[in-house]
Amino acid sequence: MKLQSFLLAAALSVSAFLVQSKDAPADSLALTPPMGWNSWNLFEDRVSEDLIKGVADAMAANGMRDAGYQYIIIDDYWVGGRDSHNRLFPDPKRFPSGIKHLADYVHGKGLKLGIYSDAAELTCGGVTGSLNFEELDAQTFAEWGIDYLKYDYCNAPDDVTTAFTRYKKMGDALKKSGRPIVYAICEWGQRKPWLWAKAAGGHLWRTTFDSRDVWQSNHSWFMGIMEILDLQEGIGRYNGPGGWNDPDLLMVGLYGKGKSSSMGPDGKKYSGCNDTEYRTSFALWSILSAPIIVNLDLSNMNEATKNILLNKDLIAINQDKLGRSGEVILKKDGLQVFRKELSNGNVAILILNRSEKAKEFSYSTAKELNLYAPYSIKDVFAGKEFKAKELKGKLEAHGCKVYVFSKK
Ligand code: GLA
Repeated sequence: MKLQSFLLAAALSVSAFLVQSKDAPADSLALTPPMGWNSWNLFEDRVSEDLIKGVADAMAANGMRDAGYQYIIIDDYWVGGRDSHNRLFPDPKRFPSGIKHLADYVHGKGLKLGIYSDAAELTCGGVTGSLNFEELDAQTFAEWGIDYLKYDYCNAPDDVTTAFTRYKKMGDALKKSGRPIVYAICEWGQRKPWLWAKAAGGHLWRTTFDSRDVWQSNHSWFMGIMEILDLQEGIGRYNGPGGWNDPDLLMVGLYGKGKSSSMGPDGKKYSGCNDTEYRTSFALWSILSAPIIVNLDLSNMNEATKNILLNKDLIAINQDKLGRSGEVILKKDGLQVFRKELSNGNVAILILNRSEKAKEFSYSTAKELNLYAPYSIKDVFAGKEFKAKELKGKLEAHGCKVYVFSKK
């Protein structure tokens, strides 16, 4: 890195840190982590208006909308090109009625529509991106009624100065468009976006490469749920109303049906996780205050998946208005304990069994969890309330328990 750009990068990091560490959100968008569904992995280059309408119908009917899921995000491969006025247009075969029509449809179902572009000439999939057309594209998105933009970083230079400049250019353009549009920054956590993404106008920022549909990949690029989880350690303090670490899509209910999410290194195929692992990932994303954005097939959702996605207690923990991230307070023998402060003085505790075999646990609430006052404790999955000075139980491999402590 040249000295000049090093100094600029350092200055950006410091000033952005000051901005990010202030509590006041820049606007009233994303005061809690965004919730929704994204077309990547399941539909990829097949995404179409009919498929998106089907998702909107499903989310309005299956309880997801009413549980808080709001955004339907069209990911890569929707773009057809630019017209003679340089305006983006969608692929005419897959989106014959245009995006405005689709946004009206989605809004008519009480949901919001998100779209995707890239801070370069071409997206990751190789279709037209937004570089040098930021204002025009933001204006177009606003006119179509778009509510959320995921902005990717394929085909763009590696340095943080360029990333910040390009992301801020689109952030400013979105603001100038006059429409409230949630701005999701997606440079895969490679340039520590938790330090500067808010200053670029972002409401959430990816912290990792793409998630695969596997519990643990033992690979630093093809990431499993456990690899992604470990990358969240130490960055929780950058979470708060208006700005969120985004550990990527939840694989819940995908069962190996996604395309990229099933691809591992050296031609290896991932066939998906089991329901215990999906439930644990959902609970982890909830305690981390991560955006809950799923990518499963909603036309064919089984009861186990439904119970995970509609779990009221977990959603309440995720959407708690204080916006704190759960932190790891204990780590031993394959067990890991997370603690998240909630806005009403309550505390959520998650106990995770990362190991390959069932494990028993026993923790003193005062000594090990630092919870002294008389509490009533709710076991979220058992749906039972009790009082105790010790938390005891057994966890299956990759399972977890979640407890909410309320002061009595
Ligand atoms: C990148 C992103 C993914 C997805 C694809 C689309 O890999 O990280 O989330 O948007 O591009 O091509």
